[in-house]
Amino acid sequence: MKTMKAVVLRDIGNLEKLSYEDVGFPIVKSGEAVVCLKAAALNHRDWWIVQGLYAKIKVPVILGSDGAGEVVSVGDPKDEGFIGQQVVIHPSLSWGDNSRAQGKDFRILGMPDNGTLAEYVIVPVSNIFEKPGYLTDDEAAALPLGGLTAYRALFVQGKLQKNEVVLITGIGGGVATLAMLMALASGAKVMVTSGHEEKIQRAVKAGIAFGSNYNDEDSFKKLTAAAETYGGIDLIIDSAGGKGFGDLLALIKPGGRIVNFGATAGNPESLDLRKMFWKQITLQGSTMGTSDDFKNMIAFFRSHEIKPVIDKVFLLKDFAHAFQRMKDGIQFGKIILKP
Ligand SMILES: NC(=O)c1ccc[n+]([C@@H]2O[C@H](COP(=O)([O-])OP(=O)(O)OC[C@H]3O[C@@H](n4cnc5c(N)ncnc54)[C@H](OP(=O)(O)O)[C@@H]3O)[C@@H](O)[C@H]2O)c1
Repeated sequence: MKTMKAVVLRDIGNLEKLSYEDVGFPIVKSGEAVVCLKAAALNHRDWWIVQGLYAKIKVPVILGSDGAGEVVSVGDPKDEGFIGQQVVIHPSLSWGDNSRAQGKDFRILGMPDNGTLAEYVIVPVSNIFEKPGYLTDDEAAALPLGGLTAYRALFVQGKLQKNEVVLITGIGGGVATLAMLMALASGAKVMVTSGHEEKIQRAVKAGIAFGSNYNDEDSFKKLTAAAETYGGIDLIIDSAGGKGFGDLLALIKPGGRIVNFGATAGNPESLDLRKMFWKQITLQGSTMGTSDDFKNMIAFFRSHEIKPVIDKVFLLKDFAHAFQRMKDGIQFGKIILKP
């Protein structure tokens, strides 16, 4: 039997439930393509799943939603033109017909469907997009899930305009760094928070206007003062939630928008609804995105020739070190894995 190497999650728990092993080579069906992966990337989702902190977990499974590589075979003769193409993979599967929200069949590549932490992956032909030529394989693999989520949060849900002020929380995260780069390229003034001083300094080097450490006692005061000098914060992009989420309602200017797509720090302890309605704040949820969002995200990166921030590159067989880095929260940008 033909086999390939993959990182397989056999049970939920901790990193020891993952193993690098030989698995059966995927069998391609009609409408699908086999991509030989040149690089993959981690998302916090992978780590949530390992811990059992995710809905409807099915094991065994090959994790991984981000990937870039070469199409090596297809299920239909009519798709043979794809063979040999260098591609990035769109990880939203079966989004559905409504661009405002995904339908009930929506899935994310990498559970329950086998994902990209492998030598090969099978995806629908409709989920492969030409890799922008200016990106390396590692850089291309950094874009899919994070770039899509950040693009929809910033532009589709958040409606960010040139010259507006946007605050991005937890800037070290994979999605957050991609959001920062796109917001800067769009001409917005960017403010960030982080729990790490050195990550704020890296964001300053990238071009942000102001950063504050959310662990500092006077962080809120500093953010408020900085925001005042810029005329107030128009948009906040948050994936942390937690007890700091309430402060966002105080920080945003009247009529501003808050887009949330995650709860890394859990649910807010309380939410001041009076502040929300009196300030006419839009509180907007967001999750990944449609094929059009993906296409527009790739086009945005290409037109501005944005290079994603790569934190560190690991060999797939060293997956445990890569996961440990995410578990420790020390990354700035995307963690890459190469078969
Ligand atoms: N709904 C969706 O479609 C969707 C898509 C992608 C991601 N997400 C969610 O979004 C979150 C980020 O994903 P990711 O892949 O970018 O994760 P990641 O690379 O692991 O980044 C997580 C980041 O969270 C920040 N953080 C931790 N505690 C924080 C706090 N109390 N306040 C502010 N920031 C805090 C940290 O930033 P600092 O180190 O700078 O402090 C850390 O780097 C996860 O919860 C993930 O599940 C949701």
